[in-house]
Amino acid sequence: MKVVFLILAVVTTFASAKFLAGGYSDHEVSSDIIEVANFAMTQLRNSQNLGAAPMKIIKAQTQVVNGLNYKLDLEFGSMVCQVVVYKPFRGESELTSQQCSNPSKSKRTGFGAPKTTGTDDQQILSAADFFVTEKNKASNSMFLLQRMSIQNATKQVVEGMLYKMDIKMGYGTCRNNQDNYGATDAECPLQSNPRPRVCHVEIVERVWMTPAYTIKNEKCQNKDVETKNPHLVGHDLCHYGMFAQFKETHNKVYFDSQEEKRRFKIFCQNMVTVKELQENEMGTAVYGATKFADMTEAEFNKYISKPWDVSEWDRMVQARIPEADPPTSFDWRDFGAVTPVKNQGSCGSCWAFSTTGNIEGQWKIKKNKLVSLSEQELVDCDKVDEGCEGGLPSNAYKEIIRLGGLETESKYEYDGKDEKCKFVKQDVKVYINSSVAISKDENEMAAWLAKNGPISIGINANVMQFYFGGISHPWKIFCNPKNIDHGVLIVGYGVKGSTPYWIIKNSWGEDWGEKGYYLVYRGAGVCGLNTMCTSAVID
Ligand SMILES: *[C@@H]1O[C@H](CO)[C@@H](O)[C@H](O)[C@H]1NC(C)=O
Ligand SMILES: *[C@@H]1O[C@H](CO)[C@@H](O)[C@H](O)[C@H]1NC(C)=O
Repeated sequence: MKVVFLILAVVTTFASAKFLAGGYSDHEVSSDIIEVANFAMTQLRNSQNLGAAPMKIIKAQTQVVNGLNYKLDLEFGSMVCQVVVYKPFRGESELTSQQCSNPSKSKRTGFGAPKTTGTDDQQILSAADFFVTEKNKASNSMFLLQRMSIQNATKQVVEGMLYKMDIKMGYGTCRNNQDNYGATDAECPLQSNPRPRVCHVEIVERVWMTPAYTIKNEKCQNKDVETKNPHLVGHDLCHYGMFAQFKETHNKVYFDSQEEKRRFKIFCQNMVTVKELQENEMGTAVYGATKFADMTEAEFNKYISKPWDVSEWDRMVQARIPEADPPTSFDWRDFGAVTPVKNQGSCGSCWAFSTTGNIEGQWKIKKNKLVSLSEQELVDCDKVDEGCEGGLPSNAYKEIIRLGGLETESKYEYDGKDEKCKFVKQDVKVYINSSVAISKDENEMAAWLAKNGPISIGINANVMQFYFGGISHPWKIFCNPKNIDHGVLIVGYGVKGSTPYWIIKNSWGEDWGEKGYYLVYRGAGVCGLNTMCTSAVID
């Protein structure tokens, strides 16, 4: 449809920097579109005089964001409205933009129509620089993205100024940190292969607001890594065949057809997340329908802990970091210091597994004996932590000292439930004497690990729900490094091609990830993995 919007009455509220990933694509008028259109109509009637005319849906487009954006052109008699409704994966829909006009009544032609602008226009350049800085802030990349050129820029008067442009960006040679934001080409020259990508961006400038810019829309090509994902078939985001295959692979049986329908819906919502993760992945990770793909966020939360208080780290004794450079790669599994991958089930006891994994390594290295240790003892007897509700390794070390040590896995078996403490002091096989906090610097972490053993860490588990394999390097926006909710164990590290990574032992069974392990990009504090590193000490 080609309607030039001659703006008569404009009421616009712009989305406040919701994360925007792919662009809009056309959508046929289906039941969910009608539902969204009805929702928009109810909202519009509060602010627009739509009269009694029936609504007609002229055009519908959707965009995958952290949820879905619906851009609809709706007609009410002679009035035409373009609306954007944001529908998050979970939570309430929201009308984020509305623009209504009455073409038949307009006399002022041309007002508000976009004008093509030279790309040396200072307003355009300033808006572009704002966008590039926002990109850098959201990026985990070690290097700063720099503006290379601007194409197809237009300016348009709306409620403020609307700039639309294609910005070509590439990696510079300097680090991505605050001091370098806005660096000129002279201060931060481009890399020889800057891996350029083009973003189509729409930015609104309202000089009376702080910040003056709002990113209204963005669509970026990310040609950084070619990821092929066999778990996302064709163009279809979600269809029943995929779900049937998922059910078969993971032996899923549902109570009745209603429950099955509900699970299919959750599965489809999760596939939207998977698509978004995959399209934005900066490493080589593949995301898809793991065994957790039919679970809601609340259900998945049972496999992680409640958020950790990482300030605990500051109160611990700091470990001494070896001075010698660490080897380029190291894996404690090669030295028999790591037990097989365990499975915590739907009990938030990850912290206990992280703790025992560390102590198993320490005992092997100090006493030359690999003993599988009891997590259930910690779930039941650690009075500071909260069993299946979550806990902290730093507390667990102290509780193990108070109790007098750990029993073995076979003596005090795991059953993933909060129960009465059945600890028997005579059955203790392993003790610890104290604990230390390990550096947040990933080079120092590697140096400590190679000399001393596996490290207990906390991480944000957000992207792990859908991790299949490869080196995971998600954008910060997908796993907030300040929100640590899962305890795991770093057992080693390596470099693949030019990509450094950590080898992380998880406790979700061998049928998850890389045979139970998680490979994560090393050197950018991905998902906060460097913020809560600790170890027990055995004298
Ligand atoms: C945008 O700019 C590029 C390069 O100048 C040009 O090839 C392309 O046709 C332009 N696209 C539009 C929609 O103006
Ligand atoms: C470490 O703890 C064990 C068990 O409590 C104890 O026997 C040992 O003496 C302690 N070692 C040191 C150096 O304190």
